[in-house]
Amino acid sequence: MKISVLKETAAGEARVAATPDTVKFYVDGGHAVTVSKGAGVSAHYSDKAYKQAGATISANNGTCVKSADLVLSITGGNKALIAKMKKGAGLTGLLGPTDQPDFVKACAKAGVTAFALEYIVRISRAQAMDVLSSQSNLAGYRSVVEAAAIYGRAFPMMMTAAGTIAPAKVFVMGAGVAGLQAIATARRLGAVTTATDVRPAAKEQVASLGAKFIAVENEEFKEAETAAGYAKQMSKEYQKLQAKLMAKHIAKQDIVITTALIPGRPAPRLIDKAMVSSMKAGSVLVDLAVERGGNVVGAVPGKIIETANGVKIVGLLNWPSRMAADSSALFARNLRNFLPLVTAENGDYAPDWDDEIIQGCALTRDGKIVHERLK
Ligand code: NAI
Repeated sequence: MKISVLKETAAGEARVAATPDTVKFYVDGGHAVTVSKGAGVSAHYSDKAYKQAGATISANNGTCVKSADLVLSITGGNKALIAKMKKGAGLTGLLGPTDQPDFVKACAKAGVTAFALEYIVRISRAQAMDVLSSQSNLAGYRSVVEAAAIYGRAFPMMMTAAGTIAPAKVFVMGAGVAGLQAIATARRLGAVTTATDVRPAAKEQVASLGAKFIAVENEEFKEAETAAGYAKQMSKEYQKLQAKLMAKHIAKQDIVITTALIPGRPAPRLIDKAMVSSMKAGSVLVDLAVERGGNVVGAVPGKIIETANGVKIVGLLNWPSRMAADSSALFARNLRNFLPLVTAENGDYAPDWDDEIIQGCALTRDGKIVHERLK
């Protein structure tokens, strides 16, 4: 099949959906790969490296997608580009289906089969294709490193001839993929680390990383995990109890990293103004959920805000893109693992419509929107 790799056009997007390594794998497998000029530059993969891996370099995205059977991307490009694609071709990316209904409609109109990678089902077989996990893991790591850089003090305890420096206190709210990596990173840097979540399964995972788990562990907590492994929306009563416990704890923290999300809903508000005001000057709050409405009152998407009491609230966006070489490499590997699901035995592009992973992430097919969540 003919595979094309887009140069991302979204603001601040430095990632690329294929690396020279995965391109070589595709070429060795008998596919023809075209890479849009400069697609990997911001992730430190040069056109020369793609050429050496066997790709053809195309002048721009328009020419790149024209005859492609499958277009690999991080964010899916735009409507004008979709209109240039071949009818029946496939497009993979984090397509933000519920945020971009017009884009999904444009894919259907162009007869393009859109695969939203964020909808890949979380079953064991799909773990190697799970871009949400591969990217969240890096986001969690980076959030702590960034917080450490912004924080005006050291993380580890240091006993020196000039005196002792106390270790930083780091609190991670939401112990999913990003949160667990944030905990591990904070611990590696020597911080005294605590964490919370509403899912009981998180308790053991937090403890296994050497951090202390803090949560309202009542009857509701025991049933807060859905069959898919995600958090449920908690009741008003639970939220009140949680806020009370958190308020006490947050006042003593130096760094708070929030990662809490609930699928299909806005992010839960976990930190209010009073909690922010209770923190010491120089403390840092990082809100990784800011793109989905935010966990922290006062977090501004794309900005670092300093409050009147000297607390910095970090609302930066697209954390994986801040480590574009690694995040691209993992994303590209996820796609490489996805490719067999859209490849026939003879190497032609042919999605396996009987496969539950394909059924779960295909948004459009034969000119129609086919995904249950979008119909
Ligand atoms: P997510 O990104 O949807 O949410 C992040 C975390 O926030 C979750 O741990 C969630 O429980 C927590 N949260 C939600 N509301 C909260 C609140 N009010 N207070 C505190 N915390 C709150 O979750 P993510 O990172 O995608 O992982 C969810 C689960 O899925 C985890 O158990 C993870 O291990 C599992 N998973 C399974 C995979 C597989 O089997 N293929 C792949 C990846 C993750």
